[in-house]
Amino acid sequence: MQQIIKSIKITDDLKAVLDNTTYDKLFVLTDEHTDKQCYPLIESVPAIQQAQRVVIPANDSNKNLENLAQVWKFLTKNGATRHSLLINLGGGMITDLGGFAAATYKRGIAYINIPTTLLGSVDAAVGGKTGINFGGYKNEIGAFYPALHIIISAEFLNTLTQKDILSGYAEMIKHGLLDSKAIWDRTINFDLQTIDYNLLNDLVMESVLIKQRIVEKDPFEKNIRKALNLGHTIGHAFESFALDNDRAVPHGYAVAWGLVAELYLSHKLCNFPKETLDLVTQFIKQNYGTFEFNREDYNTLYQLMVHDKKNVGDTINFTLLGDVGNIQIDQTADRRMIEEALDYYIG
Ligand code: GLY
Repeated sequence: MQQIIKSIKITDDLKAVLDNTTYDKLFVLTDEHTDKQCYPLIESVPAIQQAQRVVIPANDSNKNLENLAQVWKFLTKNGATRHSLLINLGGGMITDLGGFAAATYKRGIAYINIPTTLLGSVDAAVGGKTGINFGGYKNEIGAFYPALHIIISAEFLNTLTQKDILSGYAEMIKHGLLDSKAIWDRTINFDLQTIDYNLLNDLVMESVLIKQRIVEKDPFEKNIRKALNLGHTIGHAFESFALDNDRAVPHGYAVAWGLVAELYLSHKLCNFPKETLDLVTQFIKQNYGTFEFNREDYNTLYQLMVHDKKNVGDTINFTLLGDVGNIQIDQTADRRMIEEALDYYIG
């Protein structure tokens, strides 16, 4: 059965996991960054010293067919069988591509994710979505194929920049809003400027388990898993708009800004409380700054939302909230209401 392991000492926990897993050959996938910065933290594990290593270029632009083929070729050349095990050590790019390589190699081999970024820990590494970018579209080709285990290690958190922490924290804000008042209160009261890493580590695990509970109910995103799209319809439009204008922003920042606009829609359409909306807006402005655009950009942003792949037909699909923990999937908003949310965002 899949385990999500909260690890304080990665070498001990990885050793224990590998001692209790049956496989014939072990492979480790990293990118050029995690090979230098994260692999040294696991290399003393005896089984890792026997493993074969495949390293691919870093960054989402390399989550492509060429690098996927490189992993397939490496596995074939080094005699991987259906009973081999792949460890993905990296951020979302590595866990997505490595997970898809595992899903497809000899019709599926087991893999373990060891996410090394906050965003990867609370989102990409958990939930079994694997894939690559293709034909100019993100995550266009992929499969639902869950990891055998996921090891969430506190040791990588300390190595992250403030920007990396903020990017991952946006998904934690989302999970807190989706779950319960108790977790939400802890999330919104965390001081992102002076980080308490022990507390962050506890919050990360709570957040991972929120995602896991949702995914268990609906692994193939037919229903309640759509809750995880909160903040992402407008957030993705901000992210694409920024990219198209040569001022790329981190995914999590776009989600944070998208949450503000989508909680405004929640307030107008589902009675989400105004005081919670104001609190989130203030927290996000204070920690993430403001995404710059003006009314002349509304049409472009709207068209980006229309083309979001979560939509069915021409209707723009949103997940909204009636309150913290009160999830309303499959909501729609017309253009006038979306523009009103953008007006609120601009302030
Ligand atoms: N990133 C959202 C999901 O895994 O469904």
